[in-house]
Amino acid sequence: MSPATPEHRQVVRYAFYKLEPAWRRLPAERQAAAKTELGETIERYHGRLLLRPYGLVGIRGDCDFLLWQVAEDLDALVELQTALNRTDLGAYLTIPYSYLAMTRRSIYEFPAEAPRDQRLVIRPSAAKYLFVYPFIKTRAWYSLPKAERQRMMDEHVRVGRKYPTIRLNTTYSYGLDDQEFVVAFEGDNPAQFLDLVMELRESEASSYTLRDTPTLTCVQMSLWDLLDTLGGASATRSVAPATRGDGFTPVCDAADLPPGTSKRVYAAAEAVALFNVGGTIHAIANRCTHARASLSEGTVDAAKCVVVCPWHEGVFSLETGQVLAGPPTAAVQTYRVKIEGDTILIAEAREPTVASAPRS
Ligand code: FES
Repeated sequence: MSPATPEHRQVVRYAFYKLEPAWRRLPAERQAAAKTELGETIERYHGRLLLRPYGLVGIRGDCDFLLWQVAEDLDALVELQTALNRTDLGAYLTIPYSYLAMTRRSIYEFPAEAPRDQRLVIRPSAAKYLFVYPFIKTRAWYSLPKAERQRMMDEHVRVGRKYPTIRLNTTYSYGLDDQEFVVAFEGDNPAQFLDLVMELRESEASSYTLRDTPTLTCVQMSLWDLLDTLGGASATRSVAPATRGDGFTPVCDAADLPPGTSKRVYAAAEAVALFNVGGTIHAIANRCTHARASLSEGTVDAAKCVVVCPWHEGVFSLETGQVLAGPPTAAVQTYRVKIEGDTILIAEAREPTVASAPRS
């Protein structure tokens, strides 16, 4: 059973959080500060862990959001949760569901699939939805000859291939957590996922399923949008600087935005993406009009003066906010920009939206 070469595996946690309603009765200033603290705490762990936020508000009653956590060791998961527990908002969060798992190679052969080593590394896609459930097979399944199980798995895979837009992440929990697997499907169309699951119910392997609930439908969104779904005051209010009489808001030091970089800032409680393209500062609304990805995390093509959305590759002009390619259909708001001394200021746009910054 043990592999000839050691596998480098990742640990995966699907942690579902629920906010106590009492939090929404706290003063607005405390709510705003608590959201900012929680958001910044999570952002500090980007890089140490792969962290994907998903919202469930409006979809489930028993949980509000998911943090999909992928790490190289269990210590990182402990450190992250410890840091969250120390926050003000963390005192009002419960964890109705938490599923721990690990990547590993399948014991079954799927020759037409991606190289086996790819299953050892979680690479989330840009899909809008994630469908997660814990999974346990009956003990009778394990008594079947391996060839018999392989035959049933082949049927399973054949059905899955009829739905190529649905992508499966299977991770293993044997001995680590209550379930045997955690199954997470990614896709942009819940109707296709529903049809896939209905069809899989008729497969022979399905009769060997002991448990596959709860099934949790999650919507991918930026961390700051997710915090907004929780209700209460916006996370941005406590940190957004005041707008001046001329309509301009100071948002950051020019030195914090050197050429070739981007940055998310706030003005009048709106998230705004700043880009320094060859010494010229551009400002557009941070939320993609397609599915609200954070455009400050997109890729800039300096030659075309555009940003490519990190989720579905929508392309926006940094000069006009217009959509130039991809799924979005509505332009993003642009902002006027000016530099005073070392400070970048922005205001709602009525004219061209660029300013030259000192080159560093
Ligand atoms: S969120 Fe889909 S293109 Fe930006």
